[in-house]
Amino acid sequence: MQSCQQPLCAPGPRGPRPVAPLLPLLLLLALQGAGAAPAPPGVFQGNRWFLSQTLNQAAPAAVHFLNFRVGSPSALRVLSHVPWSLAWISVKKEYHANVTFVTKPFNPKDGKEERSGKCNAQLLFKKHKPRPAVNVTCPQFIEKSRQQQEDYLIYKHLKQLKNPLDVVSIPDSQGYIDPSLRPMWDLAFLGSSYVMWEKTTLGSRYQLARLTGVKQWKTDNDAIDFDYTVLLHEFSTQEMIPCRIHLVWYPGKPLKVKYHCPGQQTPDEASETEEGSAVAPTELSNF
Ligand SMILES: *[C@@H]1O[C@H](CO)[C@@H](O)[C@H](O)[C@H]1NC(C)=O
Ligand SMILES: *[C@@H]1O[C@H](CO)[C@@H](O)[C@H](O)[C@H]1NC(C)=O
Repeated sequence: MQSCQQPLCAPGPRGPRPVAPLLPLLLLLALQGAGAAPAPPGVFQGNRWFLSQTLNQAAPAAVHFLNFRVGSPSALRVLSHVPWSLAWISVKKEYHANVTFVTKPFNPKDGKEERSGKCNAQLLFKKHKPRPAVNVTCPQFIEKSRQQQEDYLIYKHLKQLKNPLDVVSIPDSQGYIDPSLRPMWDLAFLGSSYVMWEKTTLGSRYQLARLTGVKQWKTDNDAIDFDYTVLLHEFSTQEMIPCRIHLVWYPGKPLKVKYHCPGQQTPDEASETEEGSAVAPTELSNF
């Protein structure tokens, strides 16, 4: 635990103890959780703004990262609630969060028992950088063998799809997802989780809104090679960001993802590929 000099830092073994008048503020920040209304982008009120942003972004970013790391379209999770979170600033002016969150299945299956449970995550944000560093530990939500079986069924289903290029939108304009398209939607969600984790900064947080088109669908080798466009909803600006995503998936193998979100070039993001808060996962860099 680093000692800290900021007035809102958490108590640590060597850090200064928070003085009594600051405690309510620390608690307030800790209780705000993921549902708090984001401050307007660009309005910086010093450390407090960053601390409350750290809390807002922490659990959603941890869930995106978790989905990507598990790499299984049958084990996708979404955030249910955040019973506890805490943010502080280190002496290196890095923004840390410890968060406990509860997830639920993205795709609940009738009649099958789904374990839920609390996950714990530690996150680190460098002020203006995307891609927070995340350590997350969760119970195993579905039994490994069942997850492998379900992934394989998804894989078989997707392998049989001939050329789903006429997919216009998932969900459709009524919000409906045809069951035959569900595996494709799940795989698109998995790839988008990586993109959403990578793009998360203290000022921006994303949610997958829809898959708007499949550009390419190749299954001539073992893997599924899928090139598609999604709309990501960004919370602070309420913008819909189109991103083109290319992914390669084979059950049990690490997911490979490449993406491009045109029109989103801000000076902050120009550094995205070089420098994020976290080091890019090495298995992706040679893709
Ligand atoms: C955050 O979590 C880590 C890992 O559990 C722990 O070592 C650390 O003390 C926690 N920090 C705070 C401020 O609670
Ligand atoms: C994650 O864990 C590693 C190894 O224990 C540690 O070096 C790293 O600082 C941790 N990252 C965060 C964000 O807590």
